Amino acid sequence: MSCKVIAITNQKGGVGKTTTAVNLADALGKCGRRVLLIDIDPQASATLSLGVDRYSHKSIYDVLTNDNIPLVSTIVKPEHASCDMVISNIELSNLETTLIDNPDREFILNDRIVTVKRKYDYIILDCPPSLGLITVSSLYAADTLIIPVQCQFLAIDGLTQLLNTIKIVQNKKKVNHKSLLIEGILLTMLDKRVKSSWAIVSEIKECFGEKVFKTIITTNIKAQVAPNYGMSVIEYSAKSPASKEYKELAREVIANED
Ligand SMILES: Nc1ncnc2c1ncn2[C@@H]1O[C@H](COP(=O)(O)OP(=O)(O)OP(=O)(O)O)[C@@H](O)[C@H]1O
Ligand SMILES: [Mg+2]
Repeated sequence: MSCKVIAITNQKGGVGKTTTAVNLADALGKCGRRVLLIDIDPQASATLSLGVDRYSHKSIYDVLTNDNIPLVSTIVKPEHASCDMVISNIELSNLETTLIDNPDREFILNDRIVTVKRKYDYIILDCPPSLGLITVSSLYAADTLIIPVQCQFLAIDGLTQLLNTIKIVQNKKKVNHKSLLIEGILLTMLDKRVKSSWAIVSEIKECFGEKVFKTIITTNIKAQVAPNYGMSVIEYSAKSPASKEYKELAREVIANED
């Protein structure tokens, strides 16, 4: 198969983007796919979640701001996940200022990613909670998007803005015969015991129909603590519900391959 670039995005904070990026990357890797996880959030949560030091390697910021640092030279292998990764750190928050005079700044990430595509089946981007340069660059680089939505009050608040941004990028990409599809909306952190959460599940399914993944990620303590050990949840607790759910999500993504 050819490489698919999937951006995990939602400008709303704390909805499960990083948890999904890390565990989907690992689950796809465990299904035999070659996976690269790129941490493209200055918070560097994905980097920290997999126990990788934020300052021990060149980061995605270095790659995006220095032509002499090829993406391939910055790839590291986390100990407790079946994927490669490119790390991030707080320097990435300077990206917008550093690239302010570069008219092509939104396309640099895509150009860098193209250079490693033949090495991977999936490249997963863990986006920050904003609609700024980093997210827009990710939308240009991505083939598809996974939008995690937390099963809570105000779940779809702000989704209109995200969908508008997606539409703008889709139209621009069409000119170059490229597409940006929605891989799926992913319901996250469902507390099965809370009745109102199920109401939100129905509401989102009504809004987005077929676009919603069948897999729902439930609230699970193992998913929450695995990052403390620098491990994916599958490595930390293979039998936990979160581990099973992320493996199920990987199977859905794989089923979309053909
Ligand atoms: N299924 C889950 N069960 C329990 N806790 C979870 C689950 N998924 C995520 N969390 C916790 O919720 C918090 C937010 O998750 P996460 O960091 O993945 O969100 P995010 O969208 O990446 O946040 P940000 O917008 O800041 O990047 C974290 O503390 C995480 O451990
Ligand atoms: Mg995050």
